[in-house]
Amino acid sequence: MTMISGSERIIANLLASRTGQELTNSRSWRIGTALSGIFREKGISNTDQLVCMLDEPEHSHLSQQVVEALLNNETYFFRDRAMFDQLAHRVLPKIANQRAESKSLRILCAGCSTGQEALSLAMIFLEQTGRWTDWQIEITGVDVSHSAIATARSGIYSQFEVQRGLSVAQMLANFSETPMGWEANENLRQMTQFKVHNVLHPMTTNAPFDMILCRNVLLYFDQATRQNVLTRLLENLSPDGWLMLGAGETVADRNSPLMPVEKGINLFRTIATDL
Ligand SMILES: C[S@@+](CC[C@H](N)C(=O)[O-])C[C@H]1O[C@@H](n2cnc3c(N)ncnc32)[C@H](O)[C@@H]1O
Repeated sequence: MTMISGSERIIANLLASRTGQELTNSRSWRIGTALSGIFREKGISNTDQLVCMLDEPEHSHLSQQVVEALLNNETYFFRDRAMFDQLAHRVLPKIANQRAESKSLRILCAGCSTGQEALSLAMIFLEQTGRWTDWQIEITGVDVSHSAIATARSGIYSQFEVQRGLSVAQMLANFSETPMGWEANENLRQMTQFKVHNVLHPMTTNAPFDMILCRNVLLYFDQATRQNVLTRLLENLSPDGWLMLGAGETVADRNSPLMPVEKGINLFRTIATDL
């Protein structure tokens, strides 16, 4: 196993204190690779030099830049397609019944990265036209990374990004080619909004969310941080709401009121439910 050096430990601690994300010894190889752009920009070659610069007042933005570079922003449209299919065909019909009177739905994507998860959800609502006519649907994506949120807000993706997870038909139906890249169409953008927010901190919202997706975010938190984040998310989830975690993620806390809805689909509620 690679041992982490003193300066790498300082950098890993910076990431953990700002975001809760742990860089264990086995993932320390990420540090050099992820920071190579900053090394080039600053004309330095190692983490010892970088740590010295972090103390200098003229580099006050550097620590945020370092944190952003170390975050794993991997995402793509309809990531874990089977989970989106379950949502589309088994969960959303239930939610449509639950909220038939108000015709209003609020969804949070916690740790949304560059926005593909929120836009995938919005595409499902658009594809199910008959069901959601006249509904007020609000999908909010939040992430601690300023640069990821800037991309999500722009709604513009490269050819490579827009093809990851989308069929050509979905791409052409939902995006328009511009000189900057493929831009999400207005009907997707009207349903989605993106904000910088750290899930370690309390979130103020006008009303609770009917569904929260927090996928592939809890993975690199330690157990205590994971429970803390789940508690925070629950504070913002409606009592009859739904929580979806990523493939392989679960609520490993016997005291949590969250219960799995069904084995294998990473969907949780605080009330017993049959799908
Ligand atoms: C691997 S991506 C997952 C993106 C998307 N949910 C998906 O599954 O495709 C994890 C995201 O969580 C974000 N993240 C990590 N720690 C966070 C925190 N404390 N608060 C908010 N977002 C965080 C990262 O910036 C990153 O964009």
